[in-house]
Amino acid sequence: MRIAVTGAGGGLGRAFVATASGAHEVHGFARADLDVRDHDAVIRALVPLEPEVILHCAAMTSVDGCEAEPARAAETNVLGSFNVAVAARRSGARLVAISTDYVFDGEKGATYDERDRPNPLSMYGWTKLAGERAAEAAAPDLLIVRTAWVFGSGSDFLSGAVRRLRAGEEIGGIVDQVGSPTHVVHLAERLLPLIGSDVRGIVHLAGPEPTTWHDVLVRAKRAGGLPGEVVAQKADEVGRPAPRPANSSLASVVLSGTGVPPMPPLDEAIERVLSDA
Ligand SMILES: NC(=O)c1ccc[n+]([C@@H]2O[C@H](COP(=O)([O-])OP(=O)(O)OC[C@H]3O[C@@H](n4cnc5c(N)ncnc54)[C@H](OP(=O)(O)O)[C@@H]3O)[C@@H](O)[C@H]2O)c1
Repeated sequence: MRIAVTGAGGGLGRAFVATASGAHEVHGFARADLDVRDHDAVIRALVPLEPEVILHCAAMTSVDGCEAEPARAAETNVLGSFNVAVAARRSGARLVAISTDYVFDGEKGATYDERDRPNPLSMYGWTKLAGERAAEAAAPDLLIVRTAWVFGSGSDFLSGAVRRLRAGEEIGGIVDQVGSPTHVVHLAERLLPLIGSDVRGIVHLAGPEPTTWHDVLVRAKRAGGLPGEVVAQKADEVGRPAPRPANSSLASVVLSGTGVPPMPPLDEAIERVLSDA
């Protein structure tokens, strides 16, 4: 496949390019190469490539940053998705747009599957949901992949926390927010068969085990014999500007039967971070 990747300098973009490059013709566009807010630049960069698939990873991903700068969040996550969707339409490419568990409000109290109704709490969630809708409006051949709590790129929360625990430092882990921690390489390895399949619409693709960051940190400390201490924190004690859903864990009613292999267990993903960080 000829695959164009936006946001190729980010955690998922880098992991996907590394995973796919051996067997496919992959053209990665980091932010410095292509700002997705610039409609003309997006069309000029992507349409002449005639990609079969455009994997849209570019996004403003700082949840609190989006709350502080809503206009920039909307330009990036909504207008950017629209621009990439128009490029997909013009080039005849399938658009695979990456979205988030934060489109949900967490009120369900159980895992969300593809049939559940989004109701975001934060500017990040609103702009990502609006980005899904913008992609639906413009791209005739569309797969939206919602993922969650991505780690393992080196610059993510867990990789940093493991480095600090290894150095004997104390690290806080939230105990009252549940999600689906997802290793970025496990995600990239499953995205590849998924984007080449005939699955369309919305798919949830995330780690298999709903839990808290506190639990992940405790398991990492134990598995790695790390000397630092994990301190339990409540979400409302941390003082973050953007609200987060209390339980945004993801499940899928679509993936089984697609041939996409199941996600490895969380402990295997944690081991991978311990050996990389
Ligand atoms: N990380 C998670 O936990 C998580 C969870 C659920 C869903 N997702 C989704 O997964 C996708 C990939 O995110 P990620 O985890 O790889 O995060 P990331 O590391 O922050 O990658 C996002 C990339 O987009 C780039 N970008 C920002 N504004 C841009 C613009 N205007 N034009 C072009 N590129 C721009 C960023 O560049 P700069 O670094 O230079 O700003 C960054 O390289 C995103 O759609 C995100 O919403 C992530």
